[in-house]
Amino acid sequence: MKHASRINRLVEPPHRKILKEAKAGGRAVMNLSVGDIFIDPHPLVEETLRKTCGETSVTYPPVEGFNELRSSIAEYLRNSRGMEVGFENILVTAGASEAFLVALMAILDVGDRIILPDPTYPQHFLAANLFDNVRVSYYSQNRNISEQVPEERSIVLICSPNNPTGKVVSAKDVENLVEHARETDSIIVSDETYFEIFFKNNKPASPGSFDTKLENTMIVGSFSKNMGVTGLRVGFLASEQNIISKASTVRYATSLTSNVVGQHVVLKTLPFINEISSYVRMSIEKRLKIFLNGFKRSDLMKVYAPEGSLYIFPSIPFKSFDFCLELAKKTGVVLAPGQGFGPSGENHVRISFGAREEDIRNSIPLLNQFEPGS
Ligand SMILES: Cc1ncc(COP(=O)(O)O)c(C=O)c1O
Repeated sequence: MKHASRINRLVEPPHRKILKEAKAGGRAVMNLSVGDIFIDPHPLVEETLRKTCGETSVTYPPVEGFNELRSSIAEYLRNSRGMEVGFENILVTAGASEAFLVALMAILDVGDRIILPDPTYPQHFLAANLFDNVRVSYYSQNRNISEQVPEERSIVLICSPNNPTGKVVSAKDVENLVEHARETDSIIVSDETYFEIFFKNNKPASPGSFDTKLENTMIVGSFSKNMGVTGLRVGFLASEQNIISKASTVRYATSLTSNVVGQHVVLKTLPFINEISSYVRMSIEKRLKIFLNGFKRSDLMKVYAPEGSLYIFPSIPFKSFDFCLELAKKTGVVLAPGQGFGPSGENHVRISFGAREEDIRNSIPLLNQFEPGS
C-alpha cells in the first residue's frame, strides 16, 4: 500500500533504534534513554489502579499498544471477519477517532481523492478537510458504492452500519469495492465502529473478509460502542504490516501511545466481546422499539427502522437547525440537526438510541405534541 510522502519526513527517533539493537543483543539492558518515570506508583495511585483494572504499572506502554492486546485484537478480527492478520497488523489507538486521523496521515497525499458517504459522521469530513490539496467528494448511500467510484486511484471510506443513517452496505457491494480497489490501486478505509450493532439479519460485511491480508484495506475499529465504553478511548487501526509500521511513526509524532488502563480493561474483556456486544445490541434494540412504537408524527419526521448503528436520520419538512433549536427550547428534547452531517444532511435530524431509556420514553409524548412555528 502506498504511503503518504509526508511519512518520508518522519524519522524514527534514534534512541528507539538503539534500544532495539541493545535488546536484540540478548544482554541485560539498562535503558537510560527515555523520559519515563520508573517509580512505584504512590500508594494512593496504586490503590486506585488496583481497584480499576487490577494492574499497577502505568509507565508508557509501547507506541503500537501492548503486544498482548494487539494479538487479541488480531484474533478477534480473524474470528469475526476471517482476516489473515497477526499482532503486527494492529496499531492500538485512542478510539476510532484517532485511528481514522492516523490512517489519513499515513496514506493521504497532495492531489489524492477521498470519497466519503453522504451523509456521514462529521469527523470523517472534518478530518479529511485538515489536509491541504486533497479532493474531498461524496457518494450517495442510496445506490451501490462500487458504481459511484471513479476508475482511478482513490481513497474510499465506508462506514457500515452507518452513522447517521443506520444503513448497512451489502456484502456484494463491499466485495465489488474490494475488486475495484485491487484494480485501481485504491484504498478502502472501513470505519467499523458499529460492526456488532446490527438488527435482524443485517450483519455487516467487512472489506477485510474479501481482502484478507488487508493489502488495499485499512480497518478503523473501536471498542467504544460495541462494548459500551466510550470513555476508555480504545480502538485500533488494522492494515498490512508495512503501513501499520508507518502509522506507528505518525503515532510517535502525535499522541505517542494509548492509555494503559483502557488497554488493560479491553484486554481482559475482549475474549467476551460476543456476549458484551449482544448486551449492547439488545439494549439499543429495546430503546429503538420503544421509540418506533410510541412515535406517531409522520408529518414531523419520516422515521424508519435502521439496519444497524445507534441512529436514525429521518427527513423533516423544516430547516434542521431551526427545527432542533425550537424543539429544544420548547420541550427540552435535543436532536442533532442534519446540516452537520454532510451535503445531503439538511432537512434531516439524527436521533440516537444510545440515549438513556427514560429520556427516550419521556421525549415521545413531547415529540407527538410538538407544533413547530406555533
Ligand atoms: C462512525 C463513527 N466513527 C468513529 C467514531 C468515534 O468513535 P471512538 O469513540 O472510537 O473514537 C464514532 C463516534 O460516534 C462514529 O460514530
